[in-house]
Amino acid sequence: MTTSEFVRYSVAGGVATIELARADKKNALTIEMYHAIAAGLRSAGDDPEVRAIVVQGQPGIFCAGNDLTDFLERPLAGRTGTLSPFMLAFFECEKPIVAAVTGPAVGVGVTMLLHCDLVYLADRARLSIPFVALGLVPEFGSSLLLPRLLGPARVAEKLYLGEPIEPAEAVACGIATAVVPADEVVARAQAAAQRITRLPPAAVRATKHLLRAPDRERLVAVATTETQALAERLGSAEAREALAAFLEKRPPKFSA
Ligand code: COA
Repeated sequence: MTTSEFVRYSVAGGVATIELARADKKNALTIEMYHAIAAGLRSAGDDPEVRAIVVQGQPGIFCAGNDLTDFLERPLAGRTGTLSPFMLAFFECEKPIVAAVTGPAVGVGVTMLLHCDLVYLADRARLSIPFVALGLVPEFGSSLLLPRLLGPARVAEKLYLGEPIEPAEAVACGIATAVVPADEVVARAQAAAQRITRLPPAAVRATKHLLRAPDRERLVAVATTETQALAERLGSAEAREALAAFLEKRPPKFSA
């Protein structure tokens, strides 16, 4: 199985846990981490003992999105215009995925939640999708799913003005299941996963299939188009300036 020192995989009591563990960089995802998460989802899917999967962050942070140094230095690594193993692993996972959003989530830290089944948010876990400010575009099917959930005018506020999705708003629109005190979010997600392990597994899988199937082909098509647009954007002067500005802790300057 592909591993990363920053992604921990464990199985206990029928629940597989994938823990993002790169706290000093706010759990920003490198290519290696994407591969390790995909491998974890595949292992959990293949393991007959596993009935549910929990994806969790570290205290105070869920995931700061794609590693921006990786975007700048390896813009084309693993981004060939086809769907990544990470996205495919989420699309193809037949077992319920429970997210423990232990703190803020940014970019793909948010869009991956759209492909989880139960999502528990820490009370201070704001969700941000600053793709446009970074010279980028929405990904992982979010240009289809987010307008549907939030409505196009509210998504425009999040994408263009960079306003975060507040926890209560995330629950109201159906991105999240419930808001939980920050120090209880992992326990709540693990307890939900444990409850799923006691259900009839074939009925659980069939239900997940029915809930996800109507959108699946369209999502794959949208996510593929988004991936191609993202690969183009990553090579743009705009994106390079925005990414460098973040890493150099200065405001970006865009020319016309
Ligand atoms: N890629 C690479 N490094 C990142 C990162 C990312 N996406 N997010 C945070 N880091 C790094 C910071 O550069 C900093 O590194 P340093 O200690 O070497 O200077 C460290 O993680 C801590 O980040 P900091 O911004 O100081 O933490 P914070 O608690 O003030 O804020 C966030 C947390 C997540 C709100 C903030 O880091 C952030 O907005 N990150 C960028 C998110 C983003 O734009 N992601 C891409 C979306 S496509």
